[in-house]
Amino acid sequence: MADTITITDNRTGKQYDVPVTDGTIRATDLRQIKTGDDDFGLLTYDPAFMNTASCRSRITYIDGDKGILEYRGYPIEQLAEHSTFLETAYLILFGELPTASQMAEWTHDITMHTMVHENIKKFMEGFWYNAHPMGVFVSTVGALSTFYPDGKQIFEEEARRRQIVRLIAKVPTIAAYAYRHSIGRPYVYPDNGLSFTGNFLNMLFKMTELKYEPNEVLARALDVLFILHADHEQNCSTSAMRSIGSSHVDPYSALAGASAALYGPLHGGANEAVLRMLKEIGSVDHIPAFIKGVKAGDGRLMGFGHRVYKSYDPRARIIKKTAYEVFEVTGKNPLLDIALELERIALEDEYFVQRKLYPNVDFYSGLIYQAMNFPVEMFPVLFAIARTAGWVAQWEEMLLDPDQKIARPRQIYMGATKRDYVPAAARG
Ligand code: ACO
Repeated sequence: MADTITITDNRTGKQYDVPVTDGTIRATDLRQIKTGDDDFGLLTYDPAFMNTASCRSRITYIDGDKGILEYRGYPIEQLAEHSTFLETAYLILFGELPTASQMAEWTHDITMHTMVHENIKKFMEGFWYNAHPMGVFVSTVGALSTFYPDGKQIFEEEARRRQIVRLIAKVPTIAAYAYRHSIGRPYVYPDNGLSFTGNFLNMLFKMTELKYEPNEVLARALDVLFILHADHEQNCSTSAMRSIGSSHVDPYSALAGASAALYGPLHGGANEAVLRMLKEIGSVDHIPAFIKGVKAGDGRLMGFGHRVYKSYDPRARIIKKTAYEVFEVTGKNPLLDIALELERIALEDEYFVQRKLYPNVDFYSGLIYQAMNFPVEMFPVLFAIARTAGWVAQWEEMLLDPDQKIARPRQIYMGATKRDYVPAAARG
């Protein structure tokens, strides 16, 4: 059977055979379908890219109906159990799990690039004391491009690798500085003797002790959360990374744009929104009234629903388990009871069942972060640290893909037709 689709244009009676490859047709193949010589050709209309594949990718596989998430073929559940964030970042970037020597070199490279230029520190000091750390993060990552002009050499493999290492290594430092800035504490330099997440906790929470000793359970929990957030194929921020990167700008500028996309409450800001919502609900008794309000269109149940996952979000299940491990150390987050009851009621409610709305990764991550003493403003920043691995991997894949060009969607123009300029005095 031929892998083609035959389209009959009822406007003209003409038929067209369009090839089907990997379950898709090329949108540009539709351009031959015209009603006449002055017709531009058929376009597809797909706001929010609901049904458009923008690239071929070998990085992350998601089956939203079955609740499957895999990085380079490895199930997220196995990676969360056995891998580390740095190893997973290597896998996402290079396609294979590293050998022992590759892992040692990778860890060494990342560890040696964790410091930021002293002027970055000064730059960050310029922010107002109550600046949102995500705003500080977005701006500072963008500012890195001015420190590393070789970031523009995007088609030189070694230079590209240097920027990738710098970005993965420096984002925790920038994130920690943004946090310390917001609470008026001095910045803490990286400690090369600690693991990736152990060092991050050091830069966040070290006080006057000579050597910061991270709690192993908390460091591991953070590592698992970073693994879960490392990539998620063509989501809003990753599409932004690819789209901005398609102009061949340096990766720092592209990553600043991707983090800006992540900042929004419908994306990486959702866990912050979940906590605000749980606080607003205040007690288990208020849940029925809150659910009633949501069903009446009065706001959304934050942390529920996903564009892709329509059975469950596999990351939510792992996170729920991690939450209990963290609460063993930190004590239970008092909002947990509200979250559990909200989840129970929503999962039984016709409105949510019918719309296939399940808890997503952000429903519980905020509770964990809060129990670990992170202020809510830091939540999207933590997400950005992890997602940096995915962003740079997707950026590099886009650059090396011969099919890709500068991203440039079409529009359907609905405005006024041509008319002549009217001088101000003559306007009605
Ligand atoms: N609470 C209540 N109703 C919801 C919710 C929700 N959280 N999510 C979707 N719905 C309803 C919509 O009102 C709509 O109902 P209708 O058909 O009666 O109009 C229906 O479910 C479909 O919703 P859409 O908005 O069309 O679904 P979409 O795929 O565009 O949205 C999204 C996905 C943005 C994640 C949405 O579910 C949402 O806003 N959730 C809350 C925010 C959130 O948790 N975001 C985090 C996403 S995960 C991440 O970024 C890591």
